Amino acid sequence: MHLRRIILDTYEDVCRAAADVYTKQLEEKSNSVFCFATGSTPIGLYEELVRRYEAGNLDFSKARSFNLDEYYPIKKDHPQSYNYFMRQNLFDKINLSKYSLPNGEASDAEAECLRYDMEISDAGGIDLMLLGIGHNGHIGFNEPAVSYPMGTSFVKLTESSINANSRFFSADEVQPTEALTMGIGEIMRSKKIIMMITGEGKAEIAMKLFERKIHSDVPACFVKLHPNAIVFLDRAAARDILVFEENLKKERIKAVQEWTGLRG
Ligand code: PGA
Repeated sequence: MHLRRIILDTYEDVCRAAADVYTKQLEEKSNSVFCFATGSTPIGLYEELVRRYEAGNLDFSKARSFNLDEYYPIKKDHPQSYNYFMRQNLFDKINLSKYSLPNGEASDAEAECLRYDMEISDAGGIDLMLLGIGHNGHIGFNEPAVSYPMGTSFVKLTESSINANSRFFSADEVQPTEALTMGIGEIMRSKKIIMMITGEGKAEIAMKLFERKIHSDVPACFVKLHPNAIVFLDRAAARDILVFEENLKKERIKAVQEWTGLRG
């Protein structure tokens, strides 16, 4: 069983391919429940969705969405909140009927996790889940750990994620070190999953994801067990995978040649 993947030349190609999945999903089920992700990776996808919406080729009016995660605590209007990010990049620009994110303003984080799970369950679960991947293999804010939550949970961010996101915070802003994240169980219950992995910086973790193993310290490896998941990579992110597979091919050819005496 292999995790399905499509390697495309550029970041823009990945965004268009991912947007095609949304187009098809909305054609098949206009009232789809999406789960969106934040970070730099999906920005181009959101731009493409907005373009298609503006061109009259996409209609989100019956669809609704959730998001994977949110910092905690954080105000919805804080420019670094994921709520703000989603409004700026997508929600304010399309006609989605309803969107929900974990509430970074809730007074009780644990209660908010339970409430969010209920809301997802009341909506019938997620039809199409969008994932990025952290340099450490996280999905949402499910950081590498010994055990993983099923439902939404209140988590401490790892140094790796704090450092990766520090680029968005100015020196005088207090960067959150905790977050609310959808759990691995809920992610895996989604009917379809698409993951986008782009840029050279993700080449190492992409290689790890496509090794023929489940690394327990790479949360993204759970996606390998999902029956309907697909990963879109650009060539930069697929660099190590392509080198590895090319070398493997050469070794196999050499082994066959040696065995058949065709060489040396
Ligand atoms: P990035 O984040 O798209 O900004 O690299 C991805 C993630 O952390 O899941």
